[in-house]
Amino acid sequence: MNIRTLLDQRLGEVISAIAGEPCDALVNVSSKPQFGDYQANGCMAAAKRAKTNPRAFAEEVLKKIDLSDIADSLEIAGPGFINIILRQDFLEAQLATMATTDALGCELAGEAQTVVVDFSSPNLAKEMHVGHLRSTIIGDALGRVLEFLGHSVIRQNHVGDWGTQFGMLLNYMNETGGETTTLANLEEFYRASKQRFDEDEAFATTSREMVVKLQSGDADCKAAWQQFLDISLGHCQTAYDRLGVKLTKDDVRGESFYNDDLPIVVKDLDTAGLLKESDGARGVFLDEYRNKDDEPLFVIVQKSDGGYLYATTDLAAMRFRTGEINAQRILYVTDSRQGDHFAQVFLIAQRAGFVPEHVSLEHVPFGMMLGDDGKPFKTRAGGTVKLMDLLDEATTRAGDLVTSKNPGITDEARETIAAIVGIGALKYADLSQNRASDYVFAWDKMISLDGNTAPYMQYAYARIRSIFRKAASNADLGAIVLGEPQERALGNKLLQFAEAVDAVARSAMPNVLCSYLFELAGAYMSFYESCPVLKDDVAPETRASRLALCDLVARTIQTGLGLLGIETLEQM
Ligand code: ARG
Repeated sequence: MNIRTLLDQRLGEVISAIAGEPCDALVNVSSKPQFGDYQANGCMAAAKRAKTNPRAFAEEVLKKIDLSDIADSLEIAGPGFINIILRQDFLEAQLATMATTDALGCELAGEAQTVVVDFSSPNLAKEMHVGHLRSTIIGDALGRVLEFLGHSVIRQNHVGDWGTQFGMLLNYMNETGGETTTLANLEEFYRASKQRFDEDEAFATTSREMVVKLQSGDADCKAAWQQFLDISLGHCQTAYDRLGVKLTKDDVRGESFYNDDLPIVVKDLDTAGLLKESDGARGVFLDEYRNKDDEPLFVIVQKSDGGYLYATTDLAAMRFRTGEINAQRILYVTDSRQGDHFAQVFLIAQRAGFVPEHVSLEHVPFGMMLGDDGKPFKTRAGGTVKLMDLLDEATTRAGDLVTSKNPGITDEARETIAAIVGIGALKYADLSQNRASDYVFAWDKMISLDGNTAPYMQYAYARIRSIFRKAASNADLGAIVLGEPQERALGNKLLQFAEAVDAVARSAMPNVLCSYLFELAGAYMSFYESCPVLKDDVAPETRASRLALCDLVARTIQTGLGLLGIETLEQM
């Protein structure tokens, strides 16, 4: 159990006993060293409820609690905070345990869950663009974190592969002879077909007929459609592989997969007594949401022409995910503009009994990527930025950084490092932001060895590894002793890894892990400045202890970055 949770439980029990009702100890890492290692803030609220003086309440807690196995001292501060200073030998023992496993102190709380992570999910009619980058990166990190904690993660790439645009595309494919070379640039292909569609009424009509044919299962149409999808998915897979994202063809379960379920969804909504008609369309009224006339919102599941909608497919997908996959938790990683859509379909699914009550449906929204002008990120010419171009630029820029630091490097080594640093920088820049907000995409900031960036973290890792190369045969690790204040601070920080990972899993906020790693690297730098490791006058046990600290920091950075989908390098 991580230390914060442990303290929370032990203090929580006593606080609750005194208050006579369940109370939270509200333990957190102290914001300043003079407040101890941890601080409990729960006495104020508990005292308020017990209608006593908070300081007196805290004194009562200190009288009753026995934390002598963990803490050296407990002090009351301010109106009723409890500052906790941990025992050095307790910290050392915890570090020894942390070092023994690859999980680095993380453990699975409670039961392992089956978690569906719905992410990336581009529309296959067009090429992937930056809008799908955030979903892909964030979803990948969440999947890795949940898996690391022992959950069974089912990745679902809910691609848009079914809809009116496909009629237009298939029609154009026929017209141009269906050459796959013309599909090498999907963006071009889409634009050209759209132009035909807009300019030629006859073309538009046959396109519409084509959708109907496709959706009613016409073999020729289906074959052409499949060919188109294969090419488009191939483009996506190239991007996933370059990004090092854990997504394969097997994870693709697009909108078309649910086609046959859509009439059943409508029928079952009817059976559940929820289906209503309005202007020929069928749907569900939601009192919780209001339309512009302040009436209950009508969420359409079938249009008057019989066509189904995005919401209908999501309802079918939810049933599949809970019924067939047996998910207990479903995460939907999309931009925040889809917030209302998900809130509404969640409500409908729960009300219709499509999803058992214990299943947690969570929209994981993110903000927009902005250019340095504060507007949505675009190319100089104002077009959408293609994902591949972005990846190319990331590696080129990282290559320049590598050359500037190491002019003599071979081309081959440079290329390998540039890919790892460039892609890492791109991912980290995204993941280190609170995902809910928009963020400004700035190359110079992300591909830099200074600040909370991937290159900085990768460099910190490589520097530690170089210590081990220097130590050569005399690199034995020994028992960790936290004698110096910087050693103690570093040890304390190391032990907070499990808590950071737990928080990411709980809140689906990868930035918590980035901040943690950045703080860890900071604590390491202070340690390294004041605590020599390899100098001749360092006693052998001290050297072995400090090497063990270095090793644990390197492993924690490597594992932490790995959970974010970012690789490390032994040398940079
Ligand atoms: N294809 C959608 C888009 O590009 C995202 C799908 C997200 N997942 C879902 N189950 N609706 O915006």
